[in-house]
Amino acid sequence: MSSGSDSKAFYLTTPIYYVNDAPHIGHAYTTVAGDVLTRWHRQRGEDVWFLTGTDEHGEKVLNTANENNVSPQEWCDKLVEDKWKPNWRALNIANDDFIRTTEPRHMERVQKFMQLLKDNGHIYAGKFEGPYCVGCEEFKLPGDLDDGKCKVHGKPVKMLSEDNWFFKLSAFIPQLLKHYKENPEACQPESARNEVVAFLEGGVRDLSISRSTFDWGIPVPWDTDQVIYVWFDALLNYATAVGLGDDPTSEGGKKFAKTWPADVHLVGKDILRFHAVIWPAMLMAAGVPVPRKVFAHGWLLVGGEKMSKSKLTGIAPSEITDHFGVDAFRYYFLRAIPFGSDGSFSWEDMSARYTSELANDFGNLASRLIAMIEKYCDGAIPGVAQDEGLTTALAATVKKADEAICALDFQGGIGAIMEYCKKVNGYVTEKEPWAMAKDPANTAELNKVLYNTAESVRALAVLLHPVMPETTQKLWKALGAEATMGDIAHQKISSVATWGQLPAGSRVTKGAVLFPRLEEKSE
Ligand code: MSP
Repeated sequence: MSSGSDSKAFYLTTPIYYVNDAPHIGHAYTTVAGDVLTRWHRQRGEDVWFLTGTDEHGEKVLNTANENNVSPQEWCDKLVEDKWKPNWRALNIANDDFIRTTEPRHMERVQKFMQLLKDNGHIYAGKFEGPYCVGCEEFKLPGDLDDGKCKVHGKPVKMLSEDNWFFKLSAFIPQLLKHYKENPEACQPESARNEVVAFLEGGVRDLSISRSTFDWGIPVPWDTDQVIYVWFDALLNYATAVGLGDDPTSEGGKKFAKTWPADVHLVGKDILRFHAVIWPAMLMAAGVPVPRKVFAHGWLLVGGEKMSKSKLTGIAPSEITDHFGVDAFRYYFLRAIPFGSDGSFSWEDMSARYTSELANDFGNLASRLIAMIEKYCDGAIPGVAQDEGLTTALAATVKKADEAICALDFQGGIGAIMEYCKKVNGYVTEKEPWAMAKDPANTAELNKVLYNTAESVRALAVLLHPVMPETTQKLWKALGAEATMGDIAHQKISSVATWGQLPAGSRVTKGAVLFPRLEEKSE
């Protein structure tokens, strides 16, 4: 673990999203996962850089702008400002940067990179003839189609016949296979890696990296009648945003040295091949180190199919957060679905988990504790005490949660924390502090029980902070911990299990209920 300013930062990216439409919960799923993971790493004391952004070029965005009778740039500006950025703010996403592929900082570096590949002999002129899906922005093989339609979008593909520039992707197959053999962690989960390896072993064609029939894109530097293929442009965002190709002594060059290679590219499984085949090959061609890990998560399904706006099954995050709140949204998907597998969204399941895990197990524990400290201890945290069972369980919980979350097993990590919450509830139920309070002879024992419970809740607040930043911050204040221990975001994972941190005498305050009953919220 390091926090020195010269050491490499933990660098995580989300895909950059197409701005042809507003965000839905599938997009939010990836970005929330990235936010939770980066917040966790920050609380591990690491330097972190978290990038998200928007993919603005290509035919798909151009067509949408045309349909709306505005220029593509106007369309992108509007969607980014009115839909995408506000959506991430509403979900409490703490990204460090937001890249748009129409920004000069990106376009200039993309052109420079492409010129370098051309100069190094990795690009040649050719003719592309075949199917293209505008929805995927992908050149397809006949085997990718079902009755002439794209399998992902279920829509007819276009037949292209264009003189284009090609990238010698096929030349990198042996190097890519060697890379995944030697670094199994570079593509996760294992099922995703197997898919990539099988795909590579099946043979890969060279890739057309330019288009000549429209002009919404970055001009090919040596042939300005063509624009760069949108995926070649988009993949580079991860590196252009942190100064790819800049002089090492410049700001950009220093940023690049501090962040690159990326530690994790989070992607949905539908865009795995772009990230695990094309992207590393592009970097290999330029002599730039490849990312340390590409992690492909599953899809949120509606009616058994990938939820998507084009199939009219897209659910806006606000439809869920208006009812359940932002933190429950952030919690639910990571808790309920193993990261890497598909999962169905169901209103009933979310309501059930909200009530049992958040409102009952966590929220009630916190409110009962604070009510008892107010009632039995005049609102002041009693003297430091210790319970062997809770202390040992907490240490084991922190270890398990840290290992799981760092391995992107959010379900396992959050599950371990919630198990501890259950254990603390069991402790309170067993000790019955309300019964102890009836006899003054029990005061010392009562104070111990309340201190142990408060310490446990302190730890739960810190551990759940990356997942539910707003609620845990409220709880932190209610415990009086902000005044005595400082900002919750500065509490370190490595010391959460150190018992006895909540100072005796901290004043608790009863705040609003952390997870209100759902009926009350939905009037
Ligand atoms: N613009 C490209 C990515 C370029 S990255 C260099 C793109 N954009 S997208 O907006 O279509 O999708 C972005 C991400 O959202 C993908 O990772 C995709 O898997 C994810 N999801 C879209 N629908 C989803 C679900 N229904 N469920 C989970 N994730 C989903 O592709």
